[in-house]
Amino acid sequence: MATAEADPEVHTNLMQAVVLEQYGDEENLKIESIPWPKITADQVLIRVQAASVNPIDWKIRQGMLKWIIPAQLPATLGFDVAGEIAEVGYSAKQQGWNVGDQVMAFSDQALGGGYAEYIAVDSKVIVAKPGGCSFEEAAAIPLAATTAWKALVKLGQLHAGDDVLINGASGGVGTYAVQIAKALGANVTAVCSLDNHQLVRELGADDTIDYHATQFTRVGRTFDIVFDAVSKSSFHECRRILKPQGHYIATLPSVESVGMSMISRFQKQSCHVVLARPDGDILKSLTALANEGKLRTVLDTVFPLNEVAAAHRKSEGGHVVGKIVLHVSNEMPDEKSQPEQ
Ligand SMILES: NC(=O)c1ccc[n+]([C@@H]2O[C@H](COP(=O)([O-])OP(=O)(O)OC[C@H]3O[C@@H](n4cnc5c(N)ncnc54)[C@H](OP(=O)(O)O)[C@@H]3O)[C@@H](O)[C@H]2O)c1
Repeated sequence: MATAEADPEVHTNLMQAVVLEQYGDEENLKIESIPWPKITADQVLIRVQAASVNPIDWKIRQGMLKWIIPAQLPATLGFDVAGEIAEVGYSAKQQGWNVGDQVMAFSDQALGGGYAEYIAVDSKVIVAKPGGCSFEEAAAIPLAATTAWKALVKLGQLHAGDDVLINGASGGVGTYAVQIAKALGANVTAVCSLDNHQLVRELGADDTIDYHATQFTRVGRTFDIVFDAVSKSSFHECRRILKPQGHYIATLPSVESVGMSMISRFQKQSCHVVLARPDGDILKSLTALANEGKLRTVLDTVFPLNEVAAAHRKSEGGHVVGKIVLHVSNEMPDEKSQPEQ
């Protein structure tokens, strides 16, 4: 019995992938030829055109997260991809996915697997690529924008008219957070370097604070939501700029934030630590915003796959504007099957 619809081109080759053999510096990321992944009935095989780099990738690479995300090396990093479906499992096909569909995905594998020519993911973690986005722009969206959406909408319970402060507004999570908050009707204050003020205003910020000149925790105004996308503050410091029922949300756990997120359940001002996970419903909401022209990707740099070490170095520098993306492949299956001239 046939269980999958497949592009015949896919099965003939090994694929190029970035393989992490052992934890350490970025030189441990090696381009290798490995077998393409096999899919189950619930999965699709995506021919990856672009994959994005998130700080979690180099934190995993360094071994910083090995106690929290146990996984066996060698492995391939990368949670965000955009590309074309090359093969569809039986159940995924029943859900309407077909070979050739252009999609983006937030990988559900332990370490991602997106820095590769092909990735197998559950059909629940893919959505159709937003119409106006390139593959590079789409690949940047899933993890960072899911984090921003979950922080603002699920944890911050954002309502139209809310006053929202976003720290780290020029980074991967921050650039999406500014746009999501604005699209949902908030008054947005963006905290970032002066050089990026024009950018965040173009993305929808109503007000800006230069963190080099002003400590945002002492700004003398109050907010319904303080989302510290780069986790440079504490709930304790931010209480004075939170409204009586305001929400503080950080992206990195600390002893204080984890403790306070439990204690503050019984208080009016709440403290949360967001944890992004693949979520098809959130991806659909993000796609809708992108299709309405309310969410776009700011691309800092697009690196070819074989410059993945440079991409990690740039991300680790901590001053990315928007997102870093790896360009994986240009070649579409039908182009590949053209006879040589
Ligand atoms: N918990 C989760 O599920 C989750 C999900 C996604 C991300 N994260 C974490 O969230 C953090 C941010 O992720 P990201 O993808 O947005 O990172 P990113 O793109 O690398 O962030 C870079 C941005 O941070 C800004 N920045 C650096 N120092 C700052 C400071 N002191 N104050 C304000 N802004 C500052 C930089 O602006 P300047 O150049 O102006 O300094 C730059 O635009 C990372 O630590 C990441 O691991 C967690």
